[in-house]
Amino acid sequence: MERTFIAVKPDAVQRGLIGEVIQRFEKKGFKIIGLKILQLDRQTAEKHYAEHFGKPFFESLVDFITSGPVVVMVLEGVNAVEAARKLMGATNPANADPGTIRADYAHTMQRNVVHGSDSTVSAEREIAIFFDEKELIPGWKRDMEGQFI
Ligand code: RTP
Ligand code: MG
Repeated sequence: MERTFIAVKPDAVQRGLIGEVIQRFEKKGFKIIGLKILQLDRQTAEKHYAEHFGKPFFESLVDFITSGPVVVMVLEGVNAVEAARKLMGATNPANADPGTIRADYAHTMQRNVVHGSDSTVSAEREIAIFFDEKELIPGWKRDMEGQFI
C-alpha cells in the first residue's frame, strides 16, 4: 500500500468537475483517506510547488493555484503514486492519452484540472503540507477489498 496526494485544481472546481475527478480515482479502487476543500494562500502554494521556484512559469502557476478553491485528498492504494499519474495523463493535456483525466477534461498546460504527487517522497511532503495525521483515516476497508483492490 502506498499513499499519494491529489488536488482538484481551481479550473476544475470552477467548471463543476469536482465529482468527475474524484470519481475517476474512486472507481479505480483507490481509498480516499483524507479529503477537504480550501483556498491556498501564496505561502502554501509556493511551498507546495517549491521544486519549480525560479522557473519562468512559477509566478503564473502560483497565481493560478491560489485563484479559487481546490479540493485536496489523500489516496491509498497499490503503487498509488504511479497509478494515479497514469489516470491523470501527461502534464500537457495535448499529449495525454485518451481516457485520462487531463485528456478528457483539459486542453491547456496550465489549466490541467488535477495535481498528483510525482514520487512517494513528494507524496509524503505534500500530504504533510495539507493534512494533520489525525485528519486521515488510514487502512479503512472497502467491502469489496480483495476482489478488485
Ligand atoms: P502537477 O505538479 O500540477 O501535478 O503537474 P505535473 O507534475 O504533471 O507537472 P510539473 O512539472 O510538476 O508542473 C507543475 C505545473 O506547472 C505547469 N507547468 N507549466 N513549461 C511550462 O509552461 C510548464 N511546465 C509546467 C503545469 O500547469 C503543471 O501542471
Ligand atoms: Mg508536479
